[in-house]
Amino acid sequence: MDDGLRSGVEETPPFTAKELGMKKKYALAALGLVGALALAGCGGGGAGSAGGGDGAGSTDPGDLLIGVSMPTQTSERWIADGSAVEAGLEESGYQVDLQYAGDDIPTQGQQIDQMITKGADLLIIAAIDGTALSSQLDAAAAANIPVISYDRLIRDSENVDFYVTFDNYKVGVQQATSLLVGLGVLDAEGNETDVKGPFNIELFAGSLDDNNAHFFWEGAMDTLKPFMDDGVLTVPSGQTDIEQAAILRWQQETAQKRMEDLLTSTYGSGTKLDGVLSPYDGLSRGIITALQGTGGLGANIEAGLPIVTGQDAEIGSVSLINQGVQFATIFKDTRKLAEQSVVVAEAMLAGDEPEANDTETYDNGVKVVPSYLLQSDIVYKDNITPLLVDSGYWTQAEVDSGVAE
Ligand code: BGC
Repeated sequence: MDDGLRSGVEETPPFTAKELGMKKKYALAALGLVGALALAGCGGGGAGSAGGGDGAGSTDPGDLLIGVSMPTQTSERWIADGSAVEAGLEESGYQVDLQYAGDDIPTQGQQIDQMITKGADLLIIAAIDGTALSSQLDAAAAANIPVISYDRLIRDSENVDFYVTFDNYKVGVQQATSLLVGLGVLDAEGNETDVKGPFNIELFAGSLDDNNAHFFWEGAMDTLKPFMDDGVLTVPSGQTDIEQAAILRWQQETAQKRMEDLLTSTYGSGTKLDGVLSPYDGLSRGIITALQGTGGLGANIEAGLPIVTGQDAEIGSVSLINQGVQFATIFKDTRKLAEQSVVVAEAMLAGDEPEANDTETYDNGVKVVPSYLLQSDIVYKDNITPLLVDSGYWTQAEVDSGVAE
């Protein structure tokens, strides 16, 4: 089976920090920002010697301020990401300004503006809307502040220097794979069985302004499509476009509402729903709430609850998987992502080349952003312990209670 890995994984970083600085100057010249160009020119090439703040000119981590902008605290993963990035940077001696934007686009813009004003020497940003930060990134470039796009690609800007993330297409493949395993169409090793359904499924996607949502969808649909073409899978609602399946800002309540609407419109007269592709645990829990509340279905899969997928290994969902309510999730170890972002930041601030392992996949509309991709795993009930408990991500007590301690 295609594991969804994109081709072209390379080991060679595309730009040195110095070249990145030069690229910024060219971008500024193109914008006609002559004064800013002079400012950027004063800074020299190395990011560490050119940041905007009190640390400008210093390579002592204690003099350098890193701005870390995270989207929201309503999802555990971003809280874990923020804390882990902050801890990693502080351990390396940097000063950190960590901000959460409450999933509000203007708030995130203002927080980043303030980081720049305060003299940040480098920015690590997980965008709410990947297309909404161009003016902040222009300002960062004008002050010669390097920008690392964290998990979500910032689009439509020349001034994104590096991207740390997971293999997002493969995450989508894994989500669809877990759905097929749950339905019995694939066995645990991912091989096709003689189970041919037909099965009724519904599809959910993430927020369209998040570049990742498109990669997850593409990976999932490439995996499901052959089974849809063969009649093994059917989408009774007919809602098979990402625009129809998308959930703005990844909101749990919006997913619950859409699932309730689908149950009313399509499943009212006894049509059985066998599975739901969900790209994020928060959505999955909204979907499950809708499924448990309507149509007299039982509370768990054995009693007839459809197979529901997920992503992020949030503790509420891991606990539901353990109880046989949600079928699977995708574990993206945010500790490793945070660690990688610190490695990249350190390299940039030292004027070294950050290591990229993908220089082809992530075109942000203006340029291909050099990236470092991490791998993810599918979590089923029977591998919660090795993947999540043994690795210290969650304790057994947390898995049992469904609450993070
Ligand atoms: C992240 C996912 C997360 C989603 C909702 C995406 O950009 O990659 O891990 O589930 O946002 O927060």
